[in-house]
Amino acid sequence: MIQVNPYQRLIYTSRAVDGGDGDHLQAILTVSRRNNGMDGVSGVLWAKDGRYTQLLEGPADSVAQAFARIRIDPRHSDIAVLDDRMVDARQFGEWAMAGLPGDRPDMASERLRALLRNADAEIRRYFSVD
Ligand SMILES: Cc1cc2nc3c(=O)[nH]c(=O)nc-3n(C[C@H](O)[C@H](O)[C@H](O)COP(=O)(O)O)c2cc1C
Repeated sequence: MIQVNPYQRLIYTSRAVDGGDGDHLQAILTVSRRNNGMDGVSGVLWAKDGRYTQLLEGPADSVAQAFARIRIDPRHSDIAVLDDRMVDARQFGEWAMAGLPGDRPDMASERLRALLRNADAEIRRYFSVD
């Protein structure tokens, strides 16, 4: 039987022009949650040490369209794709876009660790948590 993986999963890293601890993250998350919720995209966006790392997952068309917008966004630069593949299941299905640090920056690492606890090991290694 031919198994067709229904979801695209893309992970990239980039440099945050505001250092990642300015106003951009919350604004990005607000728009992301609205768009991703409509487009069937889920994932996680992590800001740390002046860099973003984002995982996007969903129907291939939706992920491609989201990433096409994200690529040209002037709030980040030096975008490098770390992993891009078709997969059989979502890892963050309940998150239109989980985002960290959120309201409790002091808890960010702990929250990311909790989010990643059930994710594949191959995903965890792309997110540097101390
Ligand atoms: C690091 C980063 C991550 C982003 N992630 C998403 C995302 O997951 N979904 C999304 O729709 N837009 C995301 N954006 C915002 C897009 O670049 C773009 O501003 C937005 O999709 C435009 O939406 P609008 O046309 O509805 O205003 C991200 C931007 C940055 C800088």
